[in-house]
Amino acid sequence: MKLLPCVLLAATLVGAPLPALAEDAAYVGVRTCTKCHDVQGESWETTAHAKAFESLKPNAKSEAKTKAKLDPAKDYTTDKDCVGCHSTGFGKPGGYEIGMAPGGQKALGSVGCESCHGAGGGYRDEHGSAEKLLKKASQTTPRKTLADRGQNFDYERACAVCHLNYQGSPYKEARPPHTPFTPAVDAKYQFQFDKAVRSQGLHEHYKLKGVFDGPPVPAVRAEFQKSAKDLPE
Ligand code: HEC
Ligand code: HEC
Ligand code: HEC
Ligand code: HEC
Repeated sequence: MKLLPCVLLAATLVGAPLPALAEDAAYVGVRTCTKCHDVQGESWETTAHAKAFESLKPNAKSEAKTKAKLDPAKDYTTDKDCVGCHSTGFGKPGGYEIGMAPGGQKALGSVGCESCHGAGGGYRDEHGSAEKLLKKASQTTPRKTLADRGQNFDYERACAVCHLNYQGSPYKEARPPHTPFTPAVDAKYQFQFDKAVRSQGLHEHYKLKGVFDGPPVPAVRAEFQKSAKDLPE
C-alpha cells in the first residue's frame, strides 16, 4: 500500500491519465454491451427488467397498482418518483432522462445491463482490448482494472438500490423515492438476494474464457460458471 502514493505521483508527473472514478463514468446503454454480448442480451430481452418501463404506462398491471394504492389509469412514465428504478442511470451522466424514448438510441428505458454491471463508459473499451491481449500475447488482465473503471461486482448492493429501497428494509442507505411494492403490500415482494440472483429473472449465463483474472471475483461466479452454457460458434 505504501507504493500507491508514489505510483499516483509518478502518473501525475508524466501526465498519464488516472483511471476515471466510478461515479464519473457515463452510461452507454444496452446496445453497446450487446454488440459483443449478444447471447446475454437476447436472454435479458425476455425478462421483467427489459420490460420494466412498460409497467409505468396507464392501465398496465392495474391490479398490482391498485393493491399498492397507485392510480392504474395514471401515466407514470414521466414521474420522477417512478422512472429511477424502471430505467437505467436515471439522473446520472449519460443515463435516462424524463421524456426520452425508452427504446431510443441507447435503449435506457429499461433495467439494463449497467443497472447491475455499472456505468460502462469507463470499462467497455477495456473488455475488447483485454481480449486482444489474451489472443495476441496470452496475457490476462487484472479484474481490478475493471473495478477501478466503474464496473460493479457487488451484485447484492446493486439489487438493493431498487429492490430494498423502502423504509424499514435491511438496506441502510434506503432513501426516497421508495418502491411502492414492499412486503407490507404483498409478501411476494420480499426480496431475497440469494434466491433472486439464481432466478430466471436476470439472463442466462455463458462460459467465460478467462480474459480477466484476480479480485474482485463475484461470490456467485464459480457456481454460475459451472453450469454456464457454451458460447455459440
Ligand atoms: C468490444 C466488445 C465488448 C463490449 C462493447 C463489452 N464487452 Fe463485456 N466483455 C467482452 C469480453 C471479450 C470479455 C471477456 C470475456 C471472457 O473472459 O470470456 C468481457 C467480459 C465481461 C464481463 C465479465 C468480466 C469478468 O469478471 O471477467 C461482464 C460482466 C461484461 N463483460 C459486461 C459488459 C457490459 C455490461 C458491457 C456494456 C457496458 C460490456 N460488457 C461491453 C467484450 C465486450
Ligand atoms: C426504489 C425503486 C422503485 C421505485 C421508486 C418505483 N418502483 Fe416500481 N418496482 C420496483 C421493483 C424492485 C419492482 C419489482 C417488485 C417485485 O416484483 O418484487 C417494481 C415493480 C413495479 C410494478 C409491477 C408490480 C407487479 O406486481 O407486477 C409496477 C406496476 C410498478 N413497479 C410501478 C411503479 C410506479 C407507478 C412507481 C412510482 C409511483 C414505481 N413503480 C416506483 C422498484 C421501484
Ligand atoms: C434499476 C433498478 C433495479 C435493479 C438495479 C435491479 N432490479 Fe430487479 N426489478 C426491478 C424492477 C422495476 C422490476 C419489476 C419490473 C416490472 O415488472 O415492471 C424488477 C424485477 C425483478 C425480478 C422479477 C420479479 C418477478 O416477480 O417476476 C427479479 C427476479 C429481479 N428483479 C431480481 C433482481 C436482482 C437479483 C437484481 C440484482 C442483481 C436486480 N433485480 C436489480 C428493478 C431493479
Ligand atoms: C439484474 C442484474 C443484471 C442485469 C440487468 C444484467 N446482468 Fe449480466 N450478470 C448479472 C449477474 C448476477 C451475473 C453473474 C455473476 C458473474 O459471473 O459476474 C452476470 C454475468 C454476466 C456476464 C458474465 C458471463 C455470464 O454470462 O454469466 C456477462 C458477460 C454479462 N453478465 C453481461 C450482461 C449484459 C450484456 C447485460 C444486458 C443485456 C446484462 N449482463 C444484464 C446480473 C445482471
